[in-house]
Amino acid sequence: MTASLPRAAAADLLAWYDRHHRRLPWRVTPSDRAEGVVADPYRVWLSEIMLQQTTVAAVKAYFEAFTARWPSVRDLAEADEAEVMKAWAGLGYYSRARNLKACAERVARELGGRFPESEAELAELPGVGPYTAAAIAAIAFDRPATVVDGNVERVVARLFAIEAEMPAAKPEIRRSAATLTPRERPGDFAQAMMDLGATICTPKKPACGLCPWREPCAARAGGSPEALPRRAAKRPRPTRIGTTFVAVRADGAVLLGRRPPKGLLGGMSETPGSVWVERGSEATAATPPVPGRWRRLAGHVDHTFTHFHLELAVMRADVAADTPAPEGHWWSKPDALSGEALPTVFRKAISHALRGPSE
Ligand code: ADE
Repeated sequence: MTASLPRAAAADLLAWYDRHHRRLPWRVTPSDRAEGVVADPYRVWLSEIMLQQTTVAAVKAYFEAFTARWPSVRDLAEADEAEVMKAWAGLGYYSRARNLKACAERVARELGGRFPESEAELAELPGVGPYTAAAIAAIAFDRPATVVDGNVERVVARLFAIEAEMPAAKPEIRRSAATLTPRERPGDFAQAMMDLGATICTPKKPACGLCPWREPCAARAGGSPEALPRRAAKRPRPTRIGTTFVAVRADGAVLLGRRPPKGLLGGMSETPGSVWVERGSEATAATPPVPGRWRRLAGHVDHTFTHFHLELAVMRADVAADTPAPEGHWWSKPDALSGEALPTVFRKAISHALRGPSE
């Protein structure tokens, strides 16, 4: 069964949003619109791709940098892919950056520079899944699409007191969310749901006293809204171990290589190293990328990926200024390093190595 709320529920949330919405670099607020600003589908799409799996706080600076450098979808389509990967470095989930480029090319070259407006057509674009298609349709084109991300799932599970465990509860949450989507201002409504989840209906200690839906909220009436949505106990993340080699040339340049195009951190730069294996399994021997007096630095670099923790041992060698880079590798000088497409884990490894050998 799908419960439904009075029609006024959407209006109550929109009235709250008019007063309490967050100011975000990609957002066109109701007051912006009153001044004639219209949503730019390119900016909406770009922000939604960046926000997949990444927090608003982390995305803001990247969004500003991307839109300053590539102000339109045509500019991004024409950009050098390696430059886009570099600009993306640090946001994680790098297949998103490759799809971003592919999508920009499709829109610029095959669709005349215009994003499609329907959810179904949007979902055919590279990197645009059902969630992102709904978000773009609603936010960029004010289509009455139901946009359900993690924040919205929490709001809806609580509002309707949906007791089933995640992820099994998803279909019921989605059906219930669809009953809320209004015909008036669906784009603002979608963003209001996100803001409510992010600022009021938070995972712990929700601020129910400030919530525009405190009256109809079934979980609040039940007394423990923070218990929803229910989740099965998490399996612990396994730990993998590996070794990385930081070769430092006499002029301070560091040796980098490129990761294989597919798989984790695919196509990004790296300090070369071993494969990463689960602790306790047979470790494959790690071969240094260049000859030298390699020494193991004390401690290790810790990094957490979605599905595992990594403990990376760091080896360092100081090598002569004329040491050649092996095929597929290059020397990156200190002033070039910040611009490399280097995922955070390798930046950590380099700073661990450059802080000096700890004995
Ligand atoms: N999370 C995903 N999309 C978002 C958006 N458009 N605004 C705020 N948070 C979001």
